[in-house]
Amino acid sequence: MADRPPTLSRFLAERLAADANSEGLADVIDAIARGARIVEAGTRQAALGGMLGYTDEINVQGEIVARLDTLGTTTFVDVLRESGRVGALACEELEEMVHISDDASHRYLAVFDPVDGSSNIDVAVTIGSIFGIYRRRDDSPITAETLLRPGREQVAAVYAIYGSSTVLVLALPGEVHGFTLDPESADFLLTHEGIRIPESVSCYSVNEGNADRWEPGVARAVSMLRERYSLRYVGSLVADFHRDLLKGGIFLYPGDVKNPKGKLRLSYEANPLSYVAEQAGGAGSTGESRIMDVMPEALHQRTPLVIGNADVVAEVEAIIAD
Ligand code: AHG
Ligand code: MN
Ligand code: MN
Repeated sequence: MADRPPTLSRFLAERLAADANSEGLADVIDAIARGARIVEAGTRQAALGGMLGYTDEINVQGEIVARLDTLGTTTFVDVLRESGRVGALACEELEEMVHISDDASHRYLAVFDPVDGSSNIDVAVTIGSIFGIYRRRDDSPITAETLLRPGREQVAAVYAIYGSSTVLVLALPGEVHGFTLDPESADFLLTHEGIRIPESVSCYSVNEGNADRWEPGVARAVSMLRERYSLRYVGSLVADFHRDLLKGGIFLYPGDVKNPKGKLRLSYEANPLSYVAEQAGGAGSTGESRIMDVMPEALHQRTPLVIGNADVVAEVEAIIAD
């Protein structure tokens, strides 16, 4: 039998062991993987496990909360708390940050979208979970402001995609790797080592249904893309992004006259995926400037997002600026 690929845990132990500055980071990422297995099982069971449909809650985004959103929130809060390495976390579904401990051993901060693409849950279309990880600047008591960090200060980003296979993508400084969940062993095994976003671009992703609300610069940029590429739009950011990361492409959720800041959230959608994109040679932009340079003012603030192949992102920025 061909050599079994390394597990995520072994990969992390080898990759991070020598870096004293990353002490405890492997425990955070391993915790995310444990949580992803639980959410993945909930996703696969779906109706059989009572995981379809909605609760009667409206979240801070003003959106109705899906049952799987609740499973994802409680699961990832629990595993990150149990890791003993996370001082505080912020979650799309929770209005306030969750303070865990100011102890110096809890040196990381996590911001996350527990289930991305919730509108796709009930129709069995790919969804995912997205995480940005920061190291605390110092041991001072953690406040809500502690979590308002520009994306360029992330020390790692992770997303899981629950699709035809379940893949956990990990970005560390200068490197991106994919690990596929082996249903037999429940291990995440290294299957995509050293991901680089391809030069060639095959498709663009945008909700064309919003076209009549776009600003003229955005409309011109999308016209350029429409002439060149095929349209692929899953409606789950993590699925559209993962395709672009592996096959080359560009995803846009621009602002428009109705929602100038667009729909996606800076802290736990745009920043983590822009971190992944940049470590793989791509780019993440507001349409005007680098997403990871935006100084957050609020935990759940929204941002326009243009992400994927760096050259095409730059072209879109130039057209919008024109
Ligand atoms: P979430 O399910 O976490 O709220 O995210 C949904 C987002 C994102 O995944 C996707 O790209 C976008 O909503 C789709 O929005 P539209 O349905 O407006 O196109
Ligand atoms: Mn989302
Ligand atoms: Mn979500």
